[in-house]
Amino acid sequence: MPEDAATLDGARVLVTGASRGYGAAIARALAAEGAYLIITATDTGRLASTAKACRALGAGGVECCSLDLADATSVDALTDAITTLVPRLEGVVLSAAILGARGPIADIAPADIEAAITVNVTHQLRLMQGLAPLMASGAGVVIITSGAASKPGRGAYGLTKGMLDVAADVLRAEWADRDVRVIRVNPGPLRTDMRAAVHPEEDPATVPPPSERVPPVIAVLKGADPGPCIQAAEWGLS
Ligand SMILES: NC(=O)c1ccc[n+]([C@@H]2O[C@H](COP(=O)([O-])OP(=O)(O)OC[C@H]3O[C@@H](n4cnc5c(N)ncnc54)[C@H](OP(=O)(O)O)[C@@H]3O)[C@@H](O)[C@H]2O)c1
Repeated sequence: MPEDAATLDGARVLVTGASRGYGAAIARALAAEGAYLIITATDTGRLASTAKACRALGAGGVECCSLDLADATSVDALTDAITTLVPRLEGVVLSAAILGARGPIADIAPADIEAAITVNVTHQLRLMQGLAPLMASGAGVVIITSGAASKPGRGAYGLTKGMLDVAADVLRAEWADRDVRVIRVNPGPLRTDMRAAVHPEEDPATVPPPSERVPPVIAVLKGADPGPCIQAAEWGLS
């Protein structure tokens, strides 16, 4: 972390899934804190819009990197690019994810289950393995989870988010002696493309914008460690 853990000014932070939705909102909030951002997505055109907004908000620098979590080569290329850009990372936010195939998991084709596990679990971990040598002492890793994790009827998404939860908690225990905090954040329902895909009948105006659920992520990156998982909707409420 920077010397004063209450500031993110100049902190080097990777945010995946930053082209839209929650990842973009997190990137913008970090930019307003003066962080140096490495942001990723498959759609680098949309990512450029996030980068422009982040620069206008006062980011200490913004690098856009392509990342396709379906592709191991892309994951390794990102690790190489980050290693060239920075000697250390003070923060990582893993927001990128896919919904994958829907329905009871017994009805989902094995190839579709495998595809969702690859994006939402295997390559998230591959990325963390590649970044492990770069993680600064005191760094924070935020892994975005969901209320759907491990729940029946939530298709490949619920399955893979549950798997990622387990992986995050193992990583948290294994990296504790390196002083790297791994914390899951469940934002609750957010007004994003993903939510609209699951609930097309819903009036988006009734769902919180992603910016409302960013504060716990910022707090973790500033040094907070309230435990392995934060329910963002309850953050700051007593
Ligand atoms: N929305 C909700 O109500 C809600 C609730 C609980 C948890 N969450 C979690 O919050 C996080 C963000 O969700 P969101 O609602 O913001 O989703 P979203 O609007 O669908 O955005 C997903 C992001 O992930 C990126 N992405 C998708 N496929 C990718 C791939 N193969 N490789 C790399 N990046 C990829 C997308 O960019 P490109 O398409 O350009 O690659 C985009 O930036 C997710 O982890 C989700 O599980 C969301």
